Amino acid sequence: MAKKIIIGNWKMNPVDVKEAEVIAGKIVAGSDSLKKISIVVCPPFQYLERVGPIAKKKVVLGAQDCFFGGKGPYTGEVSPEMIKSMGVKYVIIGHSERRALGESDELINKKVGGALSVGLKVILCVGERSRDDSGEFLNFIKSQISQGLDKIKKSRLKNLLVAYEPIWAIGKDALHPATVQDVLEISIFIKKVLVDLFGREEGLKVPIVYGGSVDVNNCREFLTDGQADGLLVGRESLNPENFIKILKTANEL
Ligand code: PGA
Repeated sequence: MAKKIIIGNWKMNPVDVKEAEVIAGKIVAGSDSLKKISIVVCPPFQYLERVGPIAKKKVVLGAQDCFFGGKGPYTGEVSPEMIKSMGVKYVIIGHSERRALGESDELINKKVGGALSVGLKVILCVGERSRDDSGEFLNFIKSQISQGLDKIKKSRLKNLLVAYEPIWAIGKDALHPATVQDVLEISIFIKKVLVDLFGREEGLKVPIVYGGSVDVNNCREFLTDGQADGLLVGRESLNPENFIKILKTANEL
């Protein structure tokens, strides 16, 4: 069985680099003996250089976004090559908080292509704003995946993860976390979409992770009954004690 992957998304936190170093140091110290899981921490771009050396081997560095091009006149953007040169291995693309700022599926598709082309592992986030009885939200998720992965070569899929992050379950204003049943059903649905796009062999290999109000109490069941291949953790990844408890729970499975 592949290792479960636990990804911490720090979003635009903490407010200064010193605190980032403290949080990273605690996470690294608390996770050293956890051999059965993969751990990724995604700080803001500005902290990558300082968190990188703390992360060492066990905790792998991720970024929360990147641009699609190599270099050029793109004020304020950060390229896949740049983050790669900082030691980043994973990049979150298409997070709902970026989509809410105006990122289209077309732009996300370019970013996915750019990141994969330099060998980064891409965590493509998808998820509906709300649910409806007729199941229209499934078409929405399907279209986010097919547009996000448009023209992506099958051979690149080994570096892809899909994160199911229903918007209604994310952040402090979340209605509630998804249920285990939701996670299981949507993971199967996403796998089916990937199989239809890329074929059975490649499609089934893509890990599907869940994100949205993951905490110490609910993490186990998402990974067991929900069959998630991993978790994308927001708020609780900034609390080293709780994040380590989540890591330990995943490591015990
Ligand atoms: P949350 O965020 O765990 O704070 O709900 C998850 C995410 O947005 O990735």
